[in-house]
Amino acid sequence: MRIAVTGTSGRVGAALARHFPKNHEVVWLPRAFCDLANPDSLARTLDQLDCDVFINPAGITSLEACEDDPALAMRINAEAPGEIAAWAAARGVAVFHFSTDYVFAGGAAGLRDEAEIPEPRSVYGRSKLAGERAVLAVPGNCVVRLSWVFGPEKPSFIDQVFDSALAGRPLAAVADKFSLPTFTGDLTTWMERLIAMNTTGVIHACNSGEPVSWHEMANAVLGEMAAGGVLPEIPGIQKQTLAEIVAFRAARPRFTGMDTRRLSEILGQPPRHWREALAEHVRYRIGGNFTRAVTGK
Ligand SMILES: NC(=O)c1ccc[n+]([C@@H]2O[C@H](COP(=O)([O-])OP(=O)(O)OC[C@H]3O[C@@H](n4cnc5c(N)ncnc54)[C@H](OP(=O)(O)O)[C@@H]3O)[C@@H](O)[C@H]2O)c1
Repeated sequence: MRIAVTGTSGRVGAALARHFPKNHEVVWLPRAFCDLANPDSLARTLDQLDCDVFINPAGITSLEACEDDPALAMRINAEAPGEIAAWAAARGVAVFHFSTDYVFAGGAAGLRDEAEIPEPRSVYGRSKLAGERAVLAVPGNCVVRLSWVFGPEKPSFIDQVFDSALAGRPLAAVADKFSLPTFTGDLTTWMERLIAMNTTGVIHACNSGEPVSWHEMANAVLGEMAAGGVLPEIPGIQKQTLAEIVAFRAARPRFTGMDTRRLSEILGQPPRHWREALAEHVRYRIGGNFTRAVTGK
């Protein structure tokens, strides 16, 4: 199969563009070739493109950047995916587009399934929801919702905790917001399966378990570091509230852990627990490994 992947310098795009060549031919579409902000650039790329599947992880992912420029957020996260979907429909190409748990208001505890009505509270969430709708306007397409993505391709919250703990810096983490993380090392194999099964519609893709706070995840990182022998003792982590984080100008939903029953049915088993995935990543970091996303390709 010939698979086109955007956002190849990002966490998800880099993971997929590196994984798929094992079994498929991959066409890398970094921003330099395919600028989603620029309709002409996107149209030129699509004109020349020949593929069976189009995967679109590219997007503006900073909530604050979206608040600062809502028009650009809508252009990149919603209009461009719609143009990709229209192009793909005319050629019989399946589109797999990525979205987020931040499409939910997340006002109450519990797991959110695919049938729950989204009610985004930020420009980012609204632009991602508009992108979902534009892609799903074409039957046969799939929207994969992710949450708190981590992996070796690009540092995330988990790596910040790892690096700070190793350097002996004081630690603090938000303890009143809950979700479930997505490990790129697992996502790549789930995507193989979703594509092979011609999955359509919305699907929630994250690791399993009970929803956790960043504070609990940070504690799990420290526990794995201690078990791996790189921390003599586990330092305390100051608890923060969402409201205290002044850098967060955009509203963040508090309870967005996603229900993965649909993914489990397709995989034939539940996705592994987030703690196992996190432990693998921390062991990888302890081994001194960290491959940054490949850029410029
Ligand atoms: N990371 C998370 O925790 C998370 C959670 C939920 C959902 N998601 C969703 O998952 C998807 C992938 O996220 P990610 O973590 O891989 O994001 P990321 O690391 O921020 O990467 C975003 C990618 O989009 C590219 N991009 C940005 N503007 C572009 C433009 N105008 N034209 C073309 N490409 C552009 C970036 O390229 P440059 O390097 O050139 O900027 C980068 O490759 C996104 O749809 C996101 O909404 C992510």
